[in-house]
Amino acid sequence: MIVVVHGKLTEEITRAQVEQRSAPYAGVRVDLGAGDGAWAYRYAQSHPDRFVVAIDPVRENMREYSARAARKPERGGLPNMLYVVASVEHILDDLREIADELYITLPWGSLMRGLILAEPQVLDGVAALTRPGAAVHLVLNTRIFEDPVPIEARDLPELTPAYVNEQLREPYERSALHIEATRELNADEVAALNTTWAKRLSHRHPPPSVLIEARRVQRTMPLDPGSSSPPVEERAGE
Ligand SMILES: C[S@@+](CC[C@H](N)C(=O)[O-])C[C@H]1O[C@@H](n2cnc3c(N)ncnc32)[C@H](O)[C@@H]1O
Repeated sequence: MIVVVHGKLTEEITRAQVEQRSAPYAGVRVDLGAGDGAWAYRYAQSHPDRFVVAIDPVRENMREYSARAARKPERGGLPNMLYVVASVEHILDDLREIADELYITLPWGSLMRGLILAEPQVLDGVAALTRPGAAVHLVLNTRIFEDPVPIEARDLPELTPAYVNEQLREPYERSALHIEATRELNADEVAALNTTWAKRLSHRHPPPSVLIEARRVQRTMPLDPGSSSPPVEERAGE
């Protein structure tokens, strides 16, 4: 079952119900680590032909925008979106291969660490959410925190396009995520992302962030996002 939020209420729905709701639309966009879900709301509003799923483990943060989305259409309601409570480490079968396109913008916590350290559980979770061929857009910035920097970010390597090319390509590929391009985004580009955190950062002259454009490819091994240790044959030789 998939846990969805509508303001203060939560509800469990089935995969079949999600498919029924999304069927009339031209593809499903997922925003993972959606935070308050404001960007997903605006995206769904400006793309009425798409179905949008905002996913975040913190249901309270999605309260306001999920309440708006659940209103009648004439009062700002959006029939083409859902707010789902889930974390990347626990992508259920019900959400498997739901996304034709996936966005992760300025993540923190275990999502950020997993993407920067190429942890199989996190990468497999991202891959599990996406259909083969799906575009995956990641914007990472390890300096989003003001002093004191939380422990979770202190030991992370400096994220640069060179680091992505040298350290992330191979492990991402093993999780069926082919990195097509990576580059730095300047402060104006970060502001233009138009998420709540991008706007917050723009007031503080954000340092450049790193964009990773990847594509979900077919994989030869079955995905196992619930497992913290990868299949032995697949990771052998690391
Ligand atoms: C800095 S906020 C960014 C929110 C939004 N993308 C934005 O740009 O405004 C980072 C988000 O990552 C989410 N996050 C952290 N760990 C996660 C995980 N393991 N799985 C999914 N989301 C996670 C947090 O709950 C938080 O909402």
